[in-house]
Amino acid sequence: MDYPQEYQDCRQLVERRLEELFLQPCPQKPLLEAMRYSLLAGGKRIRPVLCLQFCRLAGGEAQEALDFACGVELLHTYSLIHDDLPCMDNDALRRGKPTCHKKYGETVATLAGDALQAAAFELVLGADGSAAARARAALALAQAAGEMGMCGGQYLDTMENNCTAEQLYTVHHAKTGALLEAACAMGVLASQGRREVPTGALEAAGEYAKNLGVAFQIQDDILDVTATTQALGKPAGSDRANEKTTFVTLLGVDACRELVQKYTWRAKEALGRFPNAGFLLWMADYLARRES
Ligand code: IPE
Ligand code: IPE
Ligand code: MG
Ligand code: MG
Ligand code: MG
Repeated sequence: MDYPQEYQDCRQLVERRLEELFLQPCPQKPLLEAMRYSLLAGGKRIRPVLCLQFCRLAGGEAQEALDFACGVELLHTYSLIHDDLPCMDNDALRRGKPTCHKKYGETVATLAGDALQAAAFELVLGADGSAAARARAALALAQAAGEMGMCGGQYLDTMENNCTAEQLYTVHHAKTGALLEAACAMGVLASQGRREVPTGALEAAGEYAKNLGVAFQIQDDILDVTATTQALGKPAGSDRANEKTTFVTLLGVDACRELVQKYTWRAKEALGRFPNAGFLLWMADYLARRES
């Protein structure tokens, strides 16, 4: 199978649905404009693509998970808008464009993030399929976004410095892994609402995503010191400017590259017994090799 093409196809499915929901310009609604600005600025769309693919792994059609997938992307975009604020990482560039607060000001950017989070739940709870699947998906997303997940991780990332490697795993699991876990689990749930899914699919999704999340964030921290601002579409060197403790500052780039390989391998191992996991195995390696 042509996996890069498969990635592009899934990405396009997501892009089209996001445009359907948000493309219509609304100059008389500046808050909506700010939400659209960040959401439609591109991005790798990794979380929604994983969601679609886990629906397939669990015997479903990608389309069945589309609104769950887009919901995760709305929530992720909110997390990026807030992550860039002066009270957090204070960054001026995101997805190759001025950050939301640089373009619209801090008040509007804060509210655009808040409203995107609400819109994420609106989309998930209004999706087709069974009410039970919607409720379980919304619960998974809420848990991943909240104090035990992304927000909790962002709190530790911003407020705690000088952490040990062990503490840093906790931060990475929470701030990055949790939302990836929700994305993968929600894909399985979309299929589960419609048919019997292979046993262990949900557990495998959790194990894959947990390890992928650590690998993904360590690679992000490596790229912060090795890549250019132009390649990243966000400011290189942001972690150093904020005096962040990362695995790179603790262990150096070479050891981090080995860690990315180790966690990527663990992620892939979680899917070993699924004959139709080819794309997800490729995706794990693709993310480990990525340069932006
Ligand atoms: C950036 O996520 C935030 C991290 C968790 C490192 P992505 O690297 O997925 O950002 P986009 O969505 O492609 O812009
Ligand atoms: C943020 O991690 C992860 C989020 C929950 C948004 P980073 O602060 O490293 O993400 P980037 O590098 O700004 O994308
Ligand atoms: Mg940050
Ligand atoms: Mg940041
Ligand atoms: Mg980063």
